[in-house]
Amino acid sequence: MARKKIALIGSGQIGGTLAHLAGLKELGDVVLFDIAEGVPQGKGLDIAESSPVDGFDAKFSGANSYEAIAGADVVIVTAGVPRKPGMSRDDLLGINLKVMEQVGQGLKQHAPNAFVICITNPLDAMVWALQKASGLPKNKVVGMAGVLDSARFRYFLAEELGVSVRDVHAMTLGGHGDDMVPLIRYSTVGGVPLPDLVKMGWLTQEKLDAIVERTRKGGGEIVALLKTGSAFYAPAASAIAMAESYLRDQKRVLPCAAYLNGEYGVKDMYVGVPVLIGENGVEKVVEIAFDAGEKAMFAKSVAAVQGLVDACKQINPAFA
Ligand code: APR
Repeated sequence: MARKKIALIGSGQIGGTLAHLAGLKELGDVVLFDIAEGVPQGKGLDIAESSPVDGFDAKFSGANSYEAIAGADVVIVTAGVPRKPGMSRDDLLGINLKVMEQVGQGLKQHAPNAFVICITNPLDAMVWALQKASGLPKNKVVGMAGVLDSARFRYFLAEELGVSVRDVHAMTLGGHGDDMVPLIRYSTVGGVPLPDLVKMGWLTQEKLDAIVERTRKGGGEIVALLKTGSAFYAPAASAIAMAESYLRDQKRVLPCAAYLNGEYGVKDMYVGVPVLIGENGVEKVVEIAFDAGEKAMFAKSVAAVQGLVDACKQINPAFA
């Protein structure tokens, strides 16, 4: 059987890490694409040269033209620019919206059957724009945010409690911003929901509140430390988990930015919700029941995403 093909649009910090992880996990052959000449080629060759050491078989190539992504099974998009000092949210939105239009055209022409995972920020608006620009089926275009936000939540809990990260499950829904919704009732340690852990005295409410706050600001914490860029290891690992679930039909239930058409009372928007990912892309949106507090948090988060989508429509009325 021919190997699967994974195309990475954007070969920066996250793109390079994605390529390396895809190789280590033998998910398929990898094409790195970027507008910067030499960067995707150099990173591809460098990773290929590591393959004899780690013992994985995969081809790596770099490209500056979209023809190279032809027939890709999975496409992961990180193309864009990060927010720089002095740049307004709308400036960033305008620049990356244009990038999504270009990438969308490339997908439409060369990889219309791919499962597409968008990582470019502001995530919920960019994945929405990418789906519109590409015209690909809505169940085949998703955004990566919830797996990362939940991983941060899980890591902070495991660290605080001194338990294995494997036994901590957590769910963070909503938009990928400070208004994200870490769901305490649906997060567990060894199967025990967090509110019960507080009752048992294993975790104080104050500590839990602090962890929730740290999770919400997790991206900013890394930016403040790195100074010249944003997180890339954990975002790449998160997108690879989603790609693997699709390629291997694992049917994992993961929080992803998914297209909602009435689910959770939201229409024509991408918002983070639990979805089942298998060989058909997003095979199911899991609608969990919220209590009043969760509902209010989710609504606030959706409103923030709506604001971004409205701004996109103003910048480029073709998206309206
Ligand atoms: N087409 C293809 N590639 C592009 C384009 C474009 N139109 N515009 C920019 N790029 C490339 C850049 O050349 C760069 O190599 O996208 C890459 C982005 O890489 P980095 O700047 O290293 O950013 P990275 O840390 O990988 O993050 C990418 O993910 O988490 C989000 O906020 C983050 O939006 C950012 C994205």
